[in-house]
Amino acid sequence: MTQKQLTVSYTEFPDPAELPAADRELLVAATRALPASYAPYSNFRVAAAARLEDGTVVTGGNIENAAYPMCICAEPNAMAAAASLRPGMPVVAMAITVQAPGRVLDTPASPCGSCRQILSEHESRFGHSLRLILRGEGGPVYVFERATTLLPFGFSGELL
Ligand code: THU
Repeated sequence: MTQKQLTVSYTEFPDPAELPAADRELLVAATRALPASYAPYSNFRVAAAARLEDGTVVTGGNIENAAYPMCICAEPNAMAAAASLRPGMPVVAMAITVQAPGRVLDTPASPCGSCRQILSEHESRFGHSLRLILRGEGGPVYVFERATTLLPFGFSGELL
């Protein structure tokens, strides 16, 4: 029997003002995109801003539906916007922020499992890291150098 351990490394910035300029700008773009969220059922707004390799920034918000399982997260909406605008070009960074009902969320919201799967495969498809910049409405910012860090043991197309 062998006991194994995985370590997750990320950087915490107590204040967004300390972020590298490019990350700070992407976070501002995500915050500005919050009105793109359509979340009449959860009232939990999520917005993502994706930076493509050529510097173009596209955004997306979560889009809910009365048939709840059809809700689409902000992250795949931003990824779809990127793929439509620049087919074949990698997304190299994504900032994600949220607005929760009735309170100021001061903890970063992490992408759900399904979003992690999408972001992780994007990295392997393009052989390029996808940096993640996460923040709640206030509080610290978490930066992950690559999305796959958030999905250890994720399902891989290599098995197919
Ligand atoms: N949501 C996202 O947009 N991204 C995530 O990674 C987690 C959850 C949305 C889905 C739903 O509209 C709302 O947040 C509450 O779950």
